Amino acid sequence: MIDGVLPEIVSRRALRALSDREIPNEVLVRLAQAATLAPSCYNSQPWRFVFVTSRELRRRVHDATIGGNYWAERAPCYVVAATDLELDCRLDLERDYALFDTGLAVQNLLLQATREGVIAHPIAGFDEAALKRALEIPERYIAIAVVVLGYPGDENGHLSAAHRRAEKAPRERHAVSEVAWFNRWGGTEGE
Ligand SMILES: Cc1cc2nc3c(=O)[nH]c(=O)nc-3n(C[C@H](O)[C@H](O)[C@H](O)COP(=O)(O)O)c2cc1C
Repeated sequence: MIDGVLPEIVSRRALRALSDREIPNEVLVRLAQAATLAPSCYNSQPWRFVFVTSRELRRRVHDATIGGNYWAERAPCYVVAATDLELDCRLDLERDYALFDTGLAVQNLLLQATREGVIAHPIAGFDEAALKRALEIPERYIAIAVVVLGYPGDENGHLSAAHRRAEKAPRERHAVSEVAWFNRWGGTEGE
């Protein structure tokens, strides 16, 4: 089913068994470069990223996450992705592209991290107001995701039983035919 799909797309996983080993700055800079090469509406480039490496600020970011993200505590770096709807195309009534384009940039970052051997796990489970306060992110920005970064680590004694199982579980996805069609909504290949 996945023959021919780019290897980083296939091997990227939102894993949780992280080591606290520091990630070299040059790797972090490449992740930022990869992110900023994403396409965006009218080349608006609405994404903003804060790479959080300082011990004190990492603690504050982790304090802003919800309990289920306990595993992220040992991460040597968090990347906060933020945007402002006014920085990108706002078409018709509902077609705001800032979040869409920021997501494209985050996916570039995830794939580059995969290539670098770094786990990059996006999370939405955090208190956005607390996160913005901790990092002095201006009020008008939406802190849409935090990417938890770390080299693979030992899962024993660190992860819950459910999370240990999830590390090895196969990917769960809708069948392609349930979500991607040919020529009309619901149309099948060769129709
Ligand atoms: C926007 C977004 C928010 C997510 N939030 C969390 C989260 O708060 N905690 C968590 O453990 N995983 C979180 N995930 C990871 C997903 O659960 C994971 O990507 C999904 O189960 C698919 O697994 P895979 O990435 O390994 O293919 C999030 C992923 C995305 C894209």
